[in-house]
Amino acid sequence: MGAVISVTNQKGGVGKTLTASSLASILTDKGYKVLSIDMDPQSNFTAVAGGPGTIKLGDTTSLSILDVLKQECSIEEAIVKSNIGDLVRASPNLTQWTGRTLMSRRNFQELQEQGATPEEVYGLLEQRFREGWGAVEHTTLDWALRKVRGEYDFIFLDTNPSLTLLTLNSLYTADYIIIPVFTEDTSRTALLDLKDTIDQMKVENSDMHAEILGLLITKYKRRTILASSYLEEYERLAQDLGTVLFDTKIRDGLAAAEYTNRRMDLIHYDPKSPPAQDYKAFAEEFLEKTRERGIHT
Ligand SMILES: Nc1ncnc2c1ncn2[C@@H]1O[C@H](COP(=O)(O)OP(=O)(O)OP(=O)(O)O)[C@@H](O)[C@H]1O
Ligand SMILES: [Mg+2]
Repeated sequence: MGAVISVTNQKGGVGKTLTASSLASILTDKGYKVLSIDMDPQSNFTAVAGGPGTIKLGDTTSLSILDVLKQECSIEEAIVKSNIGDLVRASPNLTQWTGRTLMSRRNFQELQEQGATPEEVYGLLEQRFREGWGAVEHTTLDWALRKVRGEYDFIFLDTNPSLTLLTLNSLYTADYIIIPVFTEDTSRTALLDLKDTIDQMKVENSDMHAEILGLLITKYKRRTILASSYLEEYERLAQDLGTVLFDTKIRDGLAAAEYTNRRMDLIHYDPKSPPAQDYKAFAEEFLEKTRERGIHT
């Protein structure tokens, strides 16, 4: 059963996409079966996925996670091969997604083609409503992932930098949450807000089990006094959040700032760069932590 990892922080520009894409890239190259899902309308995860038949950006016609959430297609249908594993791309129109769908347009057309009467369609709608079809808004992604979870070792979700229905879907279905943070700004409030959101969701959903795997320091400037004082602050903050600060820190590096323009993930763009090396070390720490939890051998 694949572990779902949501890379989340309500704060923008902290290295969520870089972390998700680097991990997905490294683990794919190591031979793990990886599914990468872009849950951010900005589509940065999609942008760095590259791969065969390079993925067109700003494309609203190819199947995307939006079609999956609207139940217009299955996850399998929306998958394309990429250098960060199997990819389900984002759509710029993701912001328009408002939640629950009892009957997709496609399903309705199929029923019409099969000659269903309006009464039959209405009866089906009523039955689906009673059965909790499409469930509630924040469970739609979880619902869609059920069929493919068993086929992957890891499923990475790159999320948008605010609290939206997309983030709630990512948190609800997650087994683990990785929170990237910058040293320059402890953004304590954003992290405590995120913890409140998770706790509140767990109160309302007894089956939700997301665990914060750890805080990951990114853009780390190792030898500054400032960096070491922030380390202590983050150790405390991790404790308050009931988690740990990962041992690996991701160094600040030019390659990490450049890679997105090249439509490639950092690991393939510049594997020898300090941040790429650090992500490789982080992948080992991540594997160790998930192995301890019995996710894989
Ligand atoms: N270790 C690093 N060294 C240098 N630059 C970095 C590093 N990590 C991230 N960056 C740069 O910081 C910016 C933000 O990174 P990234 O896009 O991964 O953050 P994000 O949290 O996904 O942002 P958003 O909230 O907008 O989705 C990017 O320009 C990225 O190239
Ligand atoms: Mg991002």
